[in-house]
Amino acid sequence: MMDISGRTKVCAIIGYPVDHSLSPTIHNASFRHLGLDYVYVAFNVQPEELEGAILGVKSLGIYGLNVTMPHKISVIQYLDKLDDDARRVGSVNTILNLNGKLIGYTTDGIGALNALKYSGVDPSGKKIVILGAGGASRSISFTLAKWAYEIVILNRTLERAISLVNDIKRALGAETNIRASQFNDENLRAEIENADILINATSIGMKPKETETPVKREFLRRDLVVFDIVYDPPETRLLREAKAIGAKTIDGLSMLIHQGAASFEIWTGLKAPIEVMRKAALKKIRRGRKGD
Ligand code: ATR
Repeated sequence: MMDISGRTKVCAIIGYPVDHSLSPTIHNASFRHLGLDYVYVAFNVQPEELEGAILGVKSLGIYGLNVTMPHKISVIQYLDKLDDDARRVGSVNTILNLNGKLIGYTTDGIGALNALKYSGVDPSGKKIVILGAGGASRSISFTLAKWAYEIVILNRTLERAISLVNDIKRALGAETNIRASQFNDENLRAEIENADILINATSIGMKPKETETPVKREFLRRDLVVFDIVYDPPETRLLREAKAIGAKTIDGLSMLIHQGAASFEIWTGLKAPIEVMRKAALKKIRRGRKGD
């Protein structure tokens, strides 16, 4: 237990529900490991309480916030400033309270980029296939579009993928090599055939439907990097099947930890202890807890 005093800096996650969030686990483990006088808690905040909660953050001097579902977009209206990435993506998952002014950031995209790099994968010049066009896919796609040679976004609801592609082209330039496609087996097979990296940013394969997979085993290749943002279970069926044929895999826990690490660095100015975070999260998951 940390020695909490009148000077302890308080960080928190707000969302609904956050009862099973892993964020308190990974951040408190890091604060403890580095001997920092910070503590991290979780607040369940319903949509109609969001404005009051943000006013409370200011009045109470809460120092750092993570924002999760369903507030990543709606919180923006209550902030004093947005960093460039958060403005482009239209989503905030991290807030810094700088002398009473709230600054919003998004670390999901950089989390995915750093998870790739940490595993020795450089997305520069690569063809990346991204499954899904929801909130997580938005942040990841915006960041990776700056590095990749080509990005294809496949989504069940095609219009959502098209609108994401258009937003990215508007932000990064019409010449950005990115396109949308319908999520189905025929397109999956064709796009994966010459891809370097496959990212599952849908919820397919997540507990309690862990027997499902977004991609048929026969579409996977040994020289494909397979990255799944689903972290519960830590090894999804997609990752298990990719590993079985010798493909390099990156799990959702890496994504969770690297986005958390980027938030940690915004609040503390220090490099986050990645392995400490991972160990703490795994321990918690093994005890049968779920989180975000
Ligand atoms: P998040 O913020 O975590 O990305 P989300 O915005 O609800 O969550 O997005 C979930 C993604 O998973 C979406 O791309 C969704 O496809 P739709 O846009 O068509 O809803 C995708 N998804 C979820 N279940 C799916 C399924 N059974 N088959 C295909 N896609 C699925």
